[in-house]
Amino acid sequence: MPLVSMTEMLKAAKAGKYAVGQFNMNNLEFTQAIIEAAQEEQSPVILGVSEGAAKYMGLEYAVAMAKVAAEKATVPVALHLDHGSSFEVAMKFIRAGFSSVMIDGSHHPFEKNVEITKKVVEAAHAMGVSVEGELGTIGGTEDDLSVDEANARLADPKEAIEFYKLTGVDALAIAVGSAHGLYKGIPKLRHDIIEAVSKEIDIPLVLHGGSGIPDDEIEKAIAAGIGKINVNTENQVALTNTLREIFAKDAKVYDPRKYLGPGREAMKEVVRGKIRLFGSNQKA
Ligand code: G3H
Ligand code: ZN
Repeated sequence: MPLVSMTEMLKAAKAGKYAVGQFNMNNLEFTQAIIEAAQEEQSPVILGVSEGAAKYMGLEYAVAMAKVAAEKATVPVALHLDHGSSFEVAMKFIRAGFSSVMIDGSHHPFEKNVEITKKVVEAAHAMGVSVEGELGTIGGTEDDLSVDEANARLADPKEAIEFYKLTGVDALAIAVGSAHGLYKGIPKLRHDIIEAVSKEIDIPLVLHGGSGIPDDEIEKAIAAGIGKINVNTENQVALTNTLREIFAKDAKVYDPRKYLGPGREAMKEVVRGKIRLFGSNQKA
């Protein structure tokens, strides 16, 4: 199938009380692992690409890989810009072939965030591209962006509802206690905030920093209204740990296929586990 926007898959997720996974692509092996797991589990899937990852892969390579992956699959696949930093960046990614974009104006004051997000929504929707916005400040590290705990700010439910009404986004990421990267302790999510916002809006909420959160916290978050969950770090760890194990056993290995192949398999099992946990299996 050609790439699709997130609109239909997220509508179905909200109605069916499950979540669709956004798994970030960092290279070919990530792309293959994500698509193979989604296909085998008959799950819709979102391929996430951050600006940093696009820089690393090359924007055209990223789009080409995602397009081939989507065409080979029979499940719906969206190609989504993760944490887009400006209107210009969002337009650049749409022009390159992305079917969905996130505009992350969460570091701006509320009015400015609304203004930028609305502008992206108007332009993107005219092209059939879906948009995710963000409110509150999610802690942790992703790419070159670091937010320490003291500066992480939870989303205000009233503001989040207002933000949705003013912008018309298709999905809304709100800060509810999760963080990007590896957690130091066990994360506790604010399910009350998720529920307060979710029951007032008809789009799903997005949970960023989906790696390393206990399964029961994820289940409760989905029940409260999370319909999209982003995962990157757990795949990175699975790949890297596999490589470390192989190199520790065999110091002479030099053919990348001998370690990247098993690394790809390890990521595929991570994605499969998340798809089942999120409940999006057999929903394609
Ligand atoms: O936007 C991407 C995600 O929020 C990924 O978070 O690396 O903690 O899984 P993670
Ligand atoms: Zn994120």
